[in-house]
Amino acid sequence: MIKLKSLTLKSKIIQSPMAGCTDLAFRLIARAHGMEFAFLEMISADALVRKTYKTFELMKSVESDRPLGAQLVGCNAQTMGEGAEILEGLGFDLIDINFGCPVPKIVSPGGGSAMLREPDKARDIFRAIIRKVKTVPVTVKMRKGYNDTSGDEAVRIAKIAEEEGLSAVTVHGRTRAQGYSGTADWEAIGKVKAALKIPVIGNGDVNSGGDALKLMAVSGCDGVMIGRGALGNPWIYKNIEGALNGAAAEKPANFEARKKVVLRHLELAIQTEGERLAYLKSKRMICWYFTHYPGSHEFRASVNRAGSLHEMRDLIHAYHLPPGTPEPDFMLAQ
Ligand SMILES: Cc1cc2nc3c(=O)[nH]c(=O)nc-3n(C[C@H](O)[C@H](O)[C@H](O)COP(=O)(O)O)c2cc1C
Repeated sequence: MIKLKSLTLKSKIIQSPMAGCTDLAFRLIARAHGMEFAFLEMISADALVRKTYKTFELMKSVESDRPLGAQLVGCNAQTMGEGAEILEGLGFDLIDINFGCPVPKIVSPGGGSAMLREPDKARDIFRAIIRKVKTVPVTVKMRKGYNDTSGDEAVRIAKIAEEEGLSAVTVHGRTRAQGYSGTADWEAIGKVKAALKIPVIGNGDVNSGGDALKLMAVSGCDGVMIGRGALGNPWIYKNIEGALNGAAAEKPANFEARKKVVLRHLELAIQTEGERLAYLKSKRMICWYFTHYPGSHEFRASVNRAGSLHEMRDLIHAYHLPPGTPEPDFMLAQ
């Protein structure tokens, strides 16, 4: 269980925000497989305050898509405060602040992981948001550092977050400079945990129940956040939940069952995004489901060439494994 102000989560597993990935169709599939809490993709505070159409499209949800967090990115304290107020008014259950995004478009003006080197600005943002948000928890998600690999930058910002009244901190154990390369440093997450009283969620390279157990043992963190490990793999939630409760590892679905889920995911994408966007977004999504299987490279090439949603469906139906092919054993190691 994780208690964050007005929000009590039964599970210690949180689905991370991922731009271009954690859309409504993804979340509905994940929830059908046991995920409890998820985030939208990150939302630009500037665009939210200007009420752009695209931002409201990113916030699409339905009643069953709860509890749900929204994440704000930006570098102006006043705009971040106004954005947070809008998000609370829209009914999100938690508001997170993005201090981790490494992409130049966000970092150059001073947002995302650039905030790790700006403790005064970070404090202003926390303060502006806490002043505006009345009941829901406010959290921050950060990398362990910008260039500095020690984890000290994250400790410094996390302490400020705690002082300003935030409810939890998530730490991705990589620096901005690392991007997504190398491995996540779970000991740095432990440094942040040791310095704080509020809950710390550990993030980075958790791809199985075994990984979640190791991350919690190494860092002492209160919960785990999963990112890429859930792409095409909604079975990860039960796999990790089982490991945390001392049960045997839950196996991911076999090839044929997986095909049914990907077809359902595609239908949900069409329902929630419309045919044109679903066609553009789903090529990547379909391939995620089969990464570990023989023939996945050829399958990916054909899906990428597909000229219509109809053709994509046909390709999924027509993908077969040679008789006797064993199921891949990813996620099973504890
Ligand atoms: C395609 C993609 C988009 C992402 N978008 C966001 C985002 O919007 N906000 C955020 O805080 N992190 C974002 N992340 C980072 C992930 O939430 C997570 O911190 C990172 O992938 C490490 O966790 P993992 O090893 O479990 O994937 C993104 C990552 C990827 C791969």
